[in-house]
Amino acid sequence: MLGIVSKDLVRAIRDQFQINWQGIHGLSHLARVWENGIHLAEATGANKKVVQLFAVFHDSRRLNENIDPEHGPRGALLAESWRGKYYDLSDEEFDLLFTACSLHTKAKTHVDRTIQTCFDADRLDLGRIGKIPDPKFLCTEAAKDLKTIEWATQRSISGHIPGNLLGLALQ
Ligand SMILES: [Fe+2]
Ligand SMILES: [Fe+2]
Repeated sequence: MLGIVSKDLVRAIRDQFQINWQGIHGLSHLARVWENGIHLAEATGANKKVVQLFAVFHDSRRLNENIDPEHGPRGALLAESWRGKYYDLSDEEFDLLFTACSLHTKAKTHVDRTIQTCFDADRLDLGRIGKIPDPKFLCTEAAKDLKTIEWATQRSISGHIPGNLLGLALQ
């Protein structure tokens, strides 16, 4: 168990994954987004359960590695269908998870700090595709901090696999 994310949930995400599980949107990305989110949540006060579940669901339903504008809404629907089976959240928390997954590529920011933290946790992992996160496209002050950008970008560029449950599942 990694916080609210169970091994069974990670396996279920993997078993329905349509693209490369070891690719740029695969497990190592999810594992870094998970850690970016937890790191940011310490400063932003985001709901950590939502941030952790966002990490595993937000790219879970991608159909390709390039342009797939509906992958966020599809990830949100997967989260909805597995609520109560692989994890539980209150209605209020679930609304945050659903919105964060749905809008993560479509919205620049959001009024809610948990959703902002989810967006930033993902955007801080752009180094893997050769982009340095631009503070203009980050939502929280914690993510805009240049030390945070550098920390996350180094990990992303080097393909760092965190030693959390998600990372361990890759080895
Ligand atoms: Fe995405
Ligand atoms: Fe992502």
